[in-house]
Amino acid sequence: MENFEGRVAVVTGGASGIGLGMVRAFAGAGMKVVIADLDTEAMGAVEQELTGRGVEVATTTCDVSQLEQVEALAGLAMDRFGKVNVLCNNAGIGIPTSSVNIKLDDWKWIIDVDLWGPIYGVKTFLPLIEEAGEGHINSTSSMAGLIASGMMGAYNVAKHGVVALMASLERDLRSRKSPITTSVLCPGPINTNISRHSVAYRPTRAKPKADGEKAGQVASSIQASLEQGMDPDEVGRLVLEAIGSGKFWVLTHPRWAKAIQKQLDAMNDDQTLTRG
Ligand SMILES: NC(=O)c1ccc[n+]([C@@H]2O[C@H](COP(=O)([O-])OP(=O)(O)OC[C@H]3O[C@@H](n4cnc5c(N)ncnc54)[C@H](O)[C@@H]3O)[C@@H](O)[C@H]2O)c1
Repeated sequence: MENFEGRVAVVTGGASGIGLGMVRAFAGAGMKVVIADLDTEAMGAVEQELTGRGVEVATTTCDVSQLEQVEALAGLAMDRFGKVNVLCNNAGIGIPTSSVNIKLDDWKWIIDVDLWGPIYGVKTFLPLIEEAGEGHINSTSSMAGLIASGMMGAYNVAKHGVVALMASLERDLRSRKSPITTSVLCPGPINTNISRHSVAYRPTRAKPKADGEKAGQVASSIQASLEQGMDPDEVGRLVLEAIGSGKFWVLTHPRWAKAIQKQLDAMNDDQTLTRG
C-alpha cells in the first residue's frame, strides 16, 4: 500500500501504548481512524487529541475476544467511513505464568484475547478489505512469538499462533494474487501500560504473584525492562513504514534475532532446545 491519504484504518487496543502509536502515525499520514478498546476513558482522550488535529476518528468499546463485538466494530467502521483499508490486530495482554501450574482460566483468557482476537479480526475484516480493493492487515505478536522463554507459557503460545496466522495468511493471499498485503509486528520491550492493564483485566483478578514468588520476580523484571523500552510512537511509525514498503516482519529490536539463531543452531547441532 503506497497511498495513505483518505484511507481507513481500524486499530484494536488503539487507546494506549503501541496501538496509540499506530493511530498517531496513521492519522499523521492522512488516514481516517477507528479505535477499538476496552478503556473507554482513554479512548475519549485520544479522540479529543485527534479531532483537535482535524483527524476523522471513530471510537468504540470492544472486547476483541468476543466475535460479535468484532463484527459490531466492522459495522461501525463501514457505517461511519464506508470502507476499511487497514486492520491492526493489536489489542493484547500478558502476565508471567509458569507452564507448570498456570490456571485454565488464565490459559483461556490469554489465548482468547491474544490469539482468538486476531483470528476474529482476520475473519471479519478480510472480506471488507478485499472489497475495498487495496489494503493491509497487521497483527501484533511479540519476540515471544518467535522464541519461547520461561514463565510466559500461555503468552508464548498465543504469540507464536499470531505469527503462524499471519505467515499462513500472507502465503495464501500471495498464492491467490490478492492485492491485500500483511505484516506481523514482533516487538521487544516497549514502554507501555501493558503490565498494569493486564493485571486490571485478568478475570480472576489475582495478583501475578499468586502464581508463586518466581512470577512476581519475573513481573518486576519485565516492568523494569518495559520502562527502559522503546517509545510506542516510534513503533507506530515502523508499522506505517512497513505497510508502505511491503515488509512482512516488523522488528523493533532486530538484534534479538540472535537468540532465534542460537536456538536454530542447537536444533541443527544436537537437537536440544538450547545449548549450555
Ligand atoms: N509493551 C511491550 O513491550 C510489548 C512487547 C511485545 C508485544 N507487545 C504486544 O503489543 C500489543 C499492545 O500492547 P501494549 O504494550 O501497547 O499495551 P497497552 O496496555 O499499553 O495497550 C493495549 C491496549 O489494548 C487494550 N485491550 C486489552 N485487552 C483488550 C481486549 N480484550 N479488547 C480490546 N482491547 C483490549 C487495553 O485497554 C490497552 O488500551 C499487545 O498485543 C502486546 O502483547 C507489547
